[in-house]
Amino acid sequence: MSGIRPTGFLHLGNYFGALRNYVRMQEEYECYFMVADLHSLTTHPDTKELKDNVHRVLSENIACGLDPDKVALFCQSHVYETSELYLYLNMLAYKGELEKTVTFKDKVRQHPDNVNAGLLTYPVLQAADILLHRALLVPVGKDQEQHLEMARNFANRFNHRYGDIFPEPQAFNYGSELIKVPSLDGGGKMSKSENQNATLYLSDDDDLIHKKIMKTKTDAGPTAPNSPKPDYIENIFLLMKLVSSEEVIKNFEQAYNDCTIRYGDMKKQLAEDMVSFIAPIRAKAEAIRADKTYLKEVMEKGAEKARQSARATMGKVREAMGLNYY
Ligand code: TRP
Repeated sequence: MSGIRPTGFLHLGNYFGALRNYVRMQEEYECYFMVADLHSLTTHPDTKELKDNVHRVLSENIACGLDPDKVALFCQSHVYETSELYLYLNMLAYKGELEKTVTFKDKVRQHPDNVNAGLLTYPVLQAADILLHRALLVPVGKDQEQHLEMARNFANRFNHRYGDIFPEPQAFNYGSELIKVPSLDGGGKMSKSENQNATLYLSDDDDLIHKKIMKTKTDAGPTAPNSPKPDYIENIFLLMKLVSSEEVIKNFEQAYNDCTIRYGDMKKQLAEDMVSFIAPIRAKAEAIRADKTYLKEVMEKGAEKARQSARATMGKVREAMGLNYY
């Protein structure tokens, strides 16, 4: 089980950090992938763009290889049981621990004028998403580890008080596959909120991809054979490793080591390979996004699968809690 917030556009970092794992998991596990539209209300109360954003995220996920016939691909708000479990779990979550959550403190700093109770209990809602399907594995990045830890705590508290219903969810990654997708400006990893020119989006057109890549920082080249690479050059190689052939990478490695490398050529090659990678995903996502009938079917089918699992869990939960009066 995992969730994707419908804020912003998916980028290369999302693809290699998350989506690719989802696509692999769908072959091996029973999967629930959800668009976290309720979570987005904690920071984006204006819903004017929500529908477009939900459609976009769904389309991009499917374009990247998620198969709505293999997984439950659904919207959080379509599964009302989520809100019910969220309410029960709220009684087991302490104000003190919620206030100490790193993401809460970050968001208070970013939106000091909108510190609402939903923001404070964001990790409780996330725990509800996960526990609703009694999920074992949650493919998420490092930034979500604290939320998962809290989900385990809420699950254990529930189990101790009312009876064993929830297994402990664990963060999941395909071991060695934690690859870094560097930002194009050399500063850290690619992310959706920071510099837009340093991020390659799955919706970028060919021209924009070329422009962004050609603008990345280089220098006059190595002056001695087999020199260590500066960070910003290493980053270009890292990006190449994601989308270029081994042959191409080997040639540029060799050229770097014997000081004949021309960074202009290298960036041109990277831009071409990046376009070959992104363009088909972009085209597929656009076609899906234009097909509202198909998107409706996907959402209905996904919600039905998710509700089935949610109903089964909530039956057990109400029973365990003693909320069965006849
Ligand atoms: N909080 C997650 C994020 O910001 C999104 C999310 C919502 C999620 N519900 C979830 C992730 C359930 C995993 C499981 O990325």
